[in-house]
Amino acid sequence: GVQRTLSIAKPDAVSKNVIGEIYSRFEKAGLRIVAAKMLRLSREQAEGFYAEHKGRPFFPALIDFMTSGPVTVQVLEGEGAVLQNRELMGATNPKEAAPGTIRADFAESIDANAVHGSDSEESAAREIAFFFSTSELCERV
Ligand code: CMP
Repeated sequence: GVQRTLSIAKPDAVSKNVIGEIYSRFEKAGLRIVAAKMLRLSREQAEGFYAEHKGRPFFPALIDFMTSGPVTVQVLEGEGAVLQNRELMGATNPKEAAPGTIRADFAESIDANAVHGSDSEESAAREIAFFFSTSELCERV
């Protein structure tokens, strides 16, 4: 069925000036961007968004990195959007990401890995609500 998922172009992707190329991957795969904005996350926002990882050894570096520069956050809509976006992104560690995926093509390391995507429909609902009010999600035709 039609799903929505939250995508983030991380500070490394914005800094490399490849957000358009990343949006293009979504569009070529048939996903529609139904909400989008650029912002610089505060530490409080980054810690809240990644609360499930609090206590993991990589958490401090993750928060440092995600607050190091602006990000874009976007909501993608389409058939099986959660899995489709994860397939487009490739593995979390770009060294393990399949050729042709966003992370294989644009990411440098497991921290600077270009994009985030929701890992389930439940996460997607929470993550979309974290950044967008329902009135900011646009009907697409
Ligand atoms: P993301 O999908 O944004 O979710 C959490 C992020 O933590 C992940 O992408 C990686 O960029 C980062 N990270 C760093 N080390 C690890 C690790 N060992 N396992 C999972 N995520 C990690």
